[in-house]
Amino acid sequence: MAKMRIDKLLSNIGIGTRKEVKKFIKEGLVLVNGNTVKDAGLIVDTESDEILFDGEKINYKEFIYIIINKPKGVISATYDEVEKTVIDLLPQELKARNPFPVGRLDKDTEGLLLITNDGDLAHQLLSPKKNVIKKYYAEILGFVNESDIKAFNEGIILEDGYKTLPANLEILFSSSDVSKVYVYIREGKYHQIKRMFESVGKKVIYLKRLAMGSLTLDENLKPGEWRELSEEELSFLKKSI
Ligand code: URA
Repeated sequence: MAKMRIDKLLSNIGIGTRKEVKKFIKEGLVLVNGNTVKDAGLIVDTESDEILFDGEKINYKEFIYIIINKPKGVISATYDEVEKTVIDLLPQELKARNPFPVGRLDKDTEGLLLITNDGDLAHQLLSPKKNVIKKYYAEILGFVNESDIKAFNEGIILEDGYKTLPANLEILFSSSDVSKVYVYIREGKYHQIKRMFESVGKKVIYLKRLAMGSLTLDENLKPGEWRELSEEELSFLKKSI
């Protein structure tokens, strides 16, 4: 059972500010279980009460879970004075739920990013103890070879002396021009993949996250597009951590 003030609930889902919602209530636009609401402070049960706004049924979920294909050029933050953020790509009714990105992708990295307002799930996904595996596709200048695979498997010592946990490197294509690889890491250190390649003398020129735990990037989502997670994706994800 989740109980909440009706004005808070309606403003949470982006119907309007608390002040606007109070006005809508006065105008008789809000019904709970068939009765016109008179008191903006009315406590409702978000699961069992039937709430109508302007004749439309409100389906309130405590948390929102969004998968977005992060495009290049936007930052993984909730707010920035200068840069465009991933939250700016969402509509107002979702922004009103105060979502945040789970972890960070660099400004020039594309791909899977989970956005939610479920702090517990985010915390678990990011916890080093949980070892959630992240899969990336990367393009690298120059040859990537067996010795890189071995070095990644053993853990790479970064320029600041930190030794990464063992990572898997899968070569899809290798040439003196550009190599294409999958990288699987279980941490999320700052610029981790770029720094791992730098440590073996190579440069990442393109990076895209394809998966995080059981969650995979929906290839139907073009850069900048998003959708809500399905019940199935969410329950798999929760079970996998
Ligand atoms: N590793 C990086 O270097 N950058 C990212 O955005 C993610 C992982």
